Amino acid sequence: MERKDFLQKFAVGGSLLFTAPLFLNSCSDGTDDVMDDADNNQNGNGIKVDLNNASFSDLKTVGGFAYTGDIIVIRSGENSYIALSKVCTHQGCTVTYSHTNNQLPCPCHGSVFSLTGSVVEGPANTNLKTYSVKKEGDILTIT
Ligand code: FES
Repeated sequence: MERKDFLQKFAVGGSLLFTAPLFLNSCSDGTDDVMDDADNNQNGNGIKVDLNNASFSDLKTVGGFAYTGDIIVIRSGENSYIALSKVCTHQGCTVTYSHTNNQLPCPCHGSVFSLTGSVVEGPANTNLKTYSVKKEGDILTIT
């Protein structure tokens, strides 16, 4: 085999080797994407918060709060809980909770949100996303 022939065969074979994975990947039916989304939402059943878990011990007291993922969970009453996005809509800092004011201030630039997620004070101009919380025993389910 001459050098020219070898290079031609290598070029054809090599290009198939490099493009085959692209074809195989494009044959995906997308179920992997669905599984990822479902996994993030714990198979569509919502995020579970076990109130007995030490990470959530602040939720044992009215006015306490804790974070799970991108969500802030607030114990707003004896048997009531509120869940909102913890990501400030201004530039993405993590909001906190002030039980004294019943508001969620952002420490970065001073935005303030109400317990319904509404902007009380800018510079943020978009409300926080809210979630529903269901309590069964010591488990909160956030959806
Ligand atoms: S990131 Fe919250 S006010 Fe700017």
